[in-house]
Amino acid sequence: MKHFLDINKTNLDDLNRILEQAKKTKITRTGFSNGAPDQNQALSGKMVALIFEKPSTRTRVSFDMGVRQMGGQTMVLSGAEMQIGHGESIADTARVLSRYVDMIMIRTFAEATLLELAEYSNVPVINGLTDRSHPCQIMADIMTFQEKHGSISGKKVVWLGDGNNVCTSFLHAAGKFGFNLTFAGPEALNPEIEAMGYARSNGSVIEIERDASKAVKDADLIVTDTWLSMHDDQAARARRHNLLRPYQVNSELMKMANKDAIFMHCLPAHREEEVTSEVMDGANSVVFDEAENRLHVQKAIMQWCLEE
Ligand code: CP
Ligand code: NVA
Repeated sequence: MKHFLDINKTNLDDLNRILEQAKKTKITRTGFSNGAPDQNQALSGKMVALIFEKPSTRTRVSFDMGVRQMGGQTMVLSGAEMQIGHGESIADTARVLSRYVDMIMIRTFAEATLLELAEYSNVPVINGLTDRSHPCQIMADIMTFQEKHGSISGKKVVWLGDGNNVCTSFLHAAGKFGFNLTFAGPEALNPEIEAMGYARSNGSVIEIERDASKAVKDADLIVTDTWLSMHDDQAARARRHNLLRPYQVNSELMKMANKDAIFMHCLPAHREEEVTSEVMDGANSVVFDEAENRLHVQKAIMQWCLEE
């Protein structure tokens, strides 16, 4: 039984297999309506529980559509409406759900919740975002980069802004797929030390640069994310915005990167905050390809989870 909990916890052969499968499925769907079934009905007869303790548009819709296209059914559950939100233990919830469903995707706060669910579940568990990481997103991002520019190995990725959960998964991916990452942001919002250590111990060059214009020099990929994540204290908004304003991705900054550098954002974006509309809607932006690829890559992840 396999869980998909984080990129650094999954072996590279499996990650590559997932990416190849996602690209294959994407091609075979071309020209079909989104509601049409796949030839591949690997989830036929399967029930997948999608648990959300935080809001979501992409994760919710892409998982739901992916399961349906592969012949399965979904049950979308809000954490607040489950007993999990009213004192039932995660372990007992895992034991109970394992008696009903074939797979669980969860978006939650503490990573400990995800890990406990996985420990006590007899069915595969997929990480749909925690305060610490967002592996499905970064698998879609690696797929998107490969589609546009080929292998990401040896390339320079620049992360601007908050060293948050999405940044942590990028660092895990750097260690797995062999790219280098420069973080440009304020010291108070540096990326997780452990994730930087993981990437470095796997041979990636991980740098911290406080000057955004210096950081983006020679960049192949520029990435940012919201300045205030769902788990952050909303009262810190003004302070964080002041700290992060120098790291906005705008056209001037994009011009300092490689000419064919692409721009990524996991979305939802806050236009004119972390990124300008000019960049979001510009020729180098691949943000909606990333969103689409969530669907294809998650289908491959679910199939991988169910394989012997
Ligand atoms: N990128 C992402 O996970 O989006 P949602 O919060 O809409 O699921
Ligand atoms: N860092 C963001 C990502 C949203 C998909 C958050 O956790 O809110």
